[in-house]
Amino acid sequence: MDRHISVLLREGTEGLAIKEGATVFEGTVGLGGHSRVLCEKIGKPGFFIGTDADQESLSIAEERLKDLPCKKLFFCDNFRNIDSVLAKAGVEKVDAILLDIGLSNRQLEVTPRGFSFMRDEPLLMTFRSSGDGLTAREIVNEWAEDSIADIIYGYGEERFARRIARGIVEARKEKPIETSGQLAEIIKKSVTARRFSKINPTTKTFQALRIAVNDELGALREGLRKGFAHLAPQGRMAVISFHSLEDRIVKEFFRQQAMDGNATIATKKPIVPSDVEIKENPKSRSAKLRIIIKN
Ligand SMILES: C[S@@+](CC[C@H](N)C(=O)[O-])C[C@H]1O[C@@H](n2cnc3c(N)ncnc32)[C@H](O)[C@@H]1O
Repeated sequence: MDRHISVLLREGTEGLAIKEGATVFEGTVGLGGHSRVLCEKIGKPGFFIGTDADQESLSIAEERLKDLPCKKLFFCDNFRNIDSVLAKAGVEKVDAILLDIGLSNRQLEVTPRGFSFMRDEPLLMTFRSSGDGLTAREIVNEWAEDSIADIIYGYGEERFARRIARGIVEARKEKPIETSGQLAEIIKKSVTARRFSKINPTTKTFQALRIAVNDELGALREGLRKGFAHLAPQGRMAVISFHSLEDRIVKEFFRQQAMDGNATIATKKPIVPSDVEIKENPKSRSAKLRIIIKN
């Protein structure tokens, strides 16, 4: 299923107040759902520059957006490198930036990279489709117990973090932990006491590992800072995030820019999906959209 239901599609794209002929940067092209609307808005005289860390998704999006007449450039890169990407595109300032962070349904459900505890796949958890760099396999098999526990607690807000880290370290003494299925079993065994929780006992640990592998919070901080520096006056930046750690970073960054007199916050409270959207796409329920306008 090469499909991703774009979250807050209308709110995210309309909130950028894009005019025909604008230059737009989207850091998280994914399967191109938001990109399509952005390209339609800028029209033939516009310039769209898009990045995604995942080459497979980017290639699908590029093909899907072929019919749109604006100038388009795609880069398989982390949006934290927006400065070098814009330099390659020959652009100094952009009128709008969109970041729709996290992972796509395709990555969760199709790519065999171990994102889902529902399937047994190699334990990679990388947004990148290439095999280099840190993987979840390396973290669970090679990192010290305390470091694993810190990640699970810090990025997963999992209160059984120490117990799960202990379980992982015990299990790897028997044999290496190679797959998502193996890891899910280890986590379940480590937290058998959690009988009354509504969420799957593995959810928070999987989220934590994914955040660590991709340095998602570091990338967000760097992307916000560099992106804002490349916004034109009156340019807008919109960020859609999916959990509280990310939203806090966005909220704090926007607040600081406003306090320093550099920007005006367009969303005093974050915009969240409507009941209708949540009914149609339950995965959207945790999304929060914040928008800032550069002075
Ligand atoms: C929620 S999906 C985007 C969906 C897209 N807006 C759409 O409508 O199809 C998030 C995408 O961002 C990418 N991504 C996440 N963090 C990234 C980063 N720091 N740099 C580049 N791409 C990133 C993921 O690979 C994934 O394809």
